[in-house]
Amino acid sequence: MKIGSIILKNASELITVSGFEAKKGEKMNDLGIIENGAVAIEDGIITHVGTTDDVLATIGDAISNYEVIDCTGKTIMPGFVDSHTHFVFGGYRADEFSWRLSGVDYMDIMKRGGGIINSVRGTMEASKEELIKLGKKRLDSMIMFGVTTVEGKSGYGLDKDTEIKQLEVMQELQEMHSIDIVPTFLGAHAVPKDYKGREDEFIDMMINDVMPEVADRKLAEFCDIFCEQNVFNVEQSRRLLNTAKEMGMKPKIHADEIVRLGGAELAAEVGAVSADHLLQASDEGIKQMAEAGVVATILPGTAYSLKEPFARARDMIDMGGAVALATDFNPGSCFTESIPLIFSLATLKMGMTTEEAITALTLNGAAAVDRADKIGSIDVGKSGDIVIHEFPSYRFLPYHLAVSTVEKVVKNGRMIYDKEAIQIK
Ligand code: NIG
Ligand code: FE
Repeated sequence: MKIGSIILKNASELITVSGFEAKKGEKMNDLGIIENGAVAIEDGIITHVGTTDDVLATIGDAISNYEVIDCTGKTIMPGFVDSHTHFVFGGYRADEFSWRLSGVDYMDIMKRGGGIINSVRGTMEASKEELIKLGKKRLDSMIMFGVTTVEGKSGYGLDKDTEIKQLEVMQELQEMHSIDIVPTFLGAHAVPKDYKGREDEFIDMMINDVMPEVADRKLAEFCDIFCEQNVFNVEQSRRLLNTAKEMGMKPKIHADEIVRLGGAELAAEVGAVSADHLLQASDEGIKQMAEAGVVATILPGTAYSLKEPFARARDMIDMGGAVALATDFNPGSCFTESIPLIFSLATLKMGMTTEEAITALTLNGAAAVDRADKIGSIDVGKSGDIVIHEFPSYRFLPYHLAVSTVEKVVKNGRMIYDKEAIQIK
């Protein structure tokens, strides 16, 4: 990990989102704004946060040890945390997208042997080097959208070799890329043809043959499962996630996306760090998640792309829950890494305030990958992961419809992206 020392000063608005745990309910509106703000980062870690006058007075002559960036007329915010993606895959599914436009639905495509299984084929055929090359390009694009930490799932293998290949690709990308990657094992993402009707045996195979190696080699921090009708039921999901916990992986779950199976309730029961999608989650499930402290990760790009109704983010927040937003970047249900699109959908279609959406993509995203104590806000002691936006207020983020406002990205105190340095010829 490369680190640096930098001071960002004179920001019109410094949006700290200050906090070390997920913000729930009304607290999601609390952005901890400092006008004419400054941040100092030393050796990658935030050391000073306050008004420019205060920060500069405290640092005094030591300022010569820092790179100094003037942010007059700009907004400073924590780097975004995209806490749910499937960015390592081979092949694309543009043909399926066209079929969906003409009315065929996602689950029907899956039943006919398309969907996730299609990407499994592409990922098996791709070499590790190809997947690394593709992965790097995708991570570069995420950085340009202001993402400084991304979660990535396996799940386009469904067998030991390919699942492990995907996780190794993420490990190698972590060595070469400045973005932080949080790896999740999603071996139970779909039922391969050979296991149709023998889903319990597939779960046994994952538990006995694949997960021990994933856990021993520390290839994944989280374990996830697609709990859905015609995929894996609640009992199979419970068994897999409880075993993952025993092996030292933290549970996540794709829950109640298309059919209400009780995935939200299961997330609360097993103490999942997050439950994701939740388009069909019940009131009871939402309540139980809020009480158990499970982050509700909403993926509006997926609902939009699948032409499904949006998850009830407004109800989830009003019932006292912690909501995170993420892209779900994947080749099938949501082929986008666009953070501005997520802001548009969250605010204009799901009734979230701009403040809630910002918290959901920063501190609550960090909580969804169990890192709210290290990233997701601009607080002393956290990693110096900061985005400079080109406008004077955070209010421009959803207002500049579906267009990125990111001008510069600082990761661990080092400037890693500067839009102003790009020249159009
Ligand atoms: O999160 N819902 C299941 N898994 C992915 C879709 C993956 C795919 O279609 O390739 C999701 O939407
Ligand atoms: Fe997903």
